[in-house]
Amino acid sequence: MTREQDHGQTPATQGSRIDAYVDRYAARATGMVASEIRALFAVASRPEVVSLAGGMPYVTALPLDMVGELVSDLVTRRGTVALQYGSGQGDPHLREQICDVMRLEGINAGPNDVVVTVGSQQALDLITRIFIDPGDVVLAEGPSYVGALGTFAAYQAKVVHIAMDDQGIVPESLAQTIYALETAGAPVKFLYTIPTFHNPGGVTLNAARRQQVLDICQRAGILIIEDNPYGLLGFDHEPMRALRADSPDGVVYLGSFSKTLAPGFRVGWALAPHAIREKLVLAMESAVLSHSSFTQLAVGQYLATQPWREQIKTFRELYRERRDALLDALDALMPPEVTWTRPSGGFFVWATLPEGLDSKAILPRAVAERVAFVPGTGFYSDGSGARHMRLSFCYPEPDRIREGVRRLAGVIEQEMQLRDTFGTGSTRDHGGVDTPGPDLA
Ligand SMILES: Cc1ncc(COP(=O)(O)O)c(C=O)c1O
Repeated sequence: MTREQDHGQTPATQGSRIDAYVDRYAARATGMVASEIRALFAVASRPEVVSLAGGMPYVTALPLDMVGELVSDLVTRRGTVALQYGSGQGDPHLREQICDVMRLEGINAGPNDVVVTVGSQQALDLITRIFIDPGDVVLAEGPSYVGALGTFAAYQAKVVHIAMDDQGIVPESLAQTIYALETAGAPVKFLYTIPTFHNPGGVTLNAARRQQVLDICQRAGILIIEDNPYGLLGFDHEPMRALRADSPDGVVYLGSFSKTLAPGFRVGWALAPHAIREKLVLAMESAVLSHSSFTQLAVGQYLATQPWREQIKTFRELYRERRDALLDALDALMPPEVTWTRPSGGFFVWATLPEGLDSKAILPRAVAERVAFVPGTGFYSDGSGARHMRLSFCYPEPDRIREGVRRLAGVIEQEMQLRDTFGTGSTRDHGGVDTPGPDLA
């Protein structure tokens, strides 16, 4: 039967490579596209490639035998609870323990205001779901966390970036942007910020600016979403005081056990003012009914029986050594025209290339030279950021980090020579949100 004979009843699109339902998707799905750099990262995960791209915590440093015993014990002793549905808000005991963790950052809160989520990523999703209609404005640092930008895009938010320097978000830029948007009749729904050990910026909002940011947002009636998965992973000093510590009504705080324990448990949380917390629980129930009781109880058991503060110290020392390896290698090997941030915690360094170099265009060459990074374009909602790249130091051993920087410096030097020979190409705006995938977030 030919297509003419079946009167168009067979879908026009057949076979495995073409999507028969392409015209049936909701408008919000059109923004969900796999990044073209994903394929490249499949190559980059080969062992011969030094990946300065991934944001994966170094779970090898965990006492895995102990975790195994704890999990097995949990099933044997409390299996009927651990393997049952739980509540939408999360295990009450774990919520109390979460309050103890947050106290380390000056937060004084009760378990009733905590919602346990599937990683802090789900908290981001739920917050966006309850606040954002298509076209609503969200403010975020430029650059910002790729996973948050993906969520904002999925809900068709309009992200407006706020300038950031080596002391974090610039308060004047925040105030001016809010004023300009409100004057233009585009009120802001919330400010999304990562004040401490920023991903990807590697910078931390200083204490004076914290107060300024709180004041500006309070005056404008703008809710702050404080995303803080790295706050306890500082190298030089005691944890910073969280924004939420000084504004219980103005801030929704997002926390996570992904970096202080392990991301595989997928346990994070939101601490929210009471009314918002109620909506979050309803949104949580509509998304997944309840979080996994099993992983919540496992994390609770870990916190109750293991020296978790010591484990965080172990992680901090390990990541500090790797940060030093990365910064020392950059100082020693990079061409002087390249600059970068100097993080005092977290996982990431943000590097800026000389004029005329485009990190996304360089990536294939770098991978061929067996080193990978994440191009800066993934961290802006408008695809700008081509002169930047994120370098992570959380996963490779220090020697591998040094070798990775040696390879990368060689690639950048070659690119600069090409630029000098053939003239300055301008960096391009690439457009859209690049979502390179969970292990690279
Ligand atoms: C800034 C930031 N927020 C949220 C997340 C998500 O973490 P989780 O594993 O808790 O979902 C990450 C993970 O890399 C992150 O860097």
